[in-house]
Amino acid sequence: MADSSTLKALDRFGSTQRHDAWWVEIIPALVIFTVFIVYATLRAFQGKYYQWGPYLSPFYSPLIDPQHRWWPFSPAILILGGPAGFRLTCYYYRKAYYRAFVAHPPACAVAEGEHRGYIGERKFPMILQNVHRYFFYLVTIILAFLWYDAVVAFRWPDGFGIGVGTAIMLVNVILLTIYSASCHSLRHLIGGKLDCFSCATFGKPRRAAWRWVTGLNEHHMFWAWISLFSVALTDLYISLVSAGVLRDIRLL
Ligand code: FES
Repeated sequence: MADSSTLKALDRFGSTQRHDAWWVEIIPALVIFTVFIVYATLRAFQGKYYQWGPYLSPFYSPLIDPQHRWWPFSPAILILGGPAGFRLTCYYYRKAYYRAFVAHPPACAVAEGEHRGYIGERKFPMILQNVHRYFFYLVTIILAFLWYDAVVAFRWPDGFGIGVGTAIMLVNVILLTIYSASCHSLRHLIGGKLDCFSCATFGKPRRAAWRWVTGLNEHHMFWAWISLFSVALTDLYISLVSAGVLRDIRLL
């Protein structure tokens, strides 16, 4: 049994009996989150270079009042809250940014020192994280618009066509859809909350859907990161083409 001085030492910030490099996981999360937040904020507030030919940046979709008839600022600001709230309240991202930004806790089985009294997300303000499922409903609507944009990206003035941007937009919306489909809230909604499938209405199809979502959910972290990269890169590509820095190549 450990004596009191050993227990005290283990209580200091960063103390652990783990022998692996537990901190390695935190650094990429910290850097990527910071870069993404700065980039997405700048782009959303920029209010230009979001459209070119049949392409529309995912940061600006659905495009509301681009002519500034009643909204004088960047149209992206009107819809930014949906995807931002969805990612911020995502169960995986919560774990990642609690660790990366406030070290609360720094990692599993690593002491956080001063930060005592963690009671989960049962009280204000952390209880607000439970709005995640409502953000899921909201981004499902936004996702429908992104699919529409991906289809429109095949429509050129001379008819059907495929450019590099078309392919990028299509891959992006597929990745975003998989990320949403692997959501913990969806898994709960479909069947995670049930104790007995055979007793529930539509139990059989719900079980099949739950198993499918569970398969995606097991890799939720992967889909969260890959879709974050894809949405930023899609916006970057369209902004560079729109600004004349890059030339889009027509593939078909
Ligand atoms: S838990 Fe991550 S998107 Fe829902």
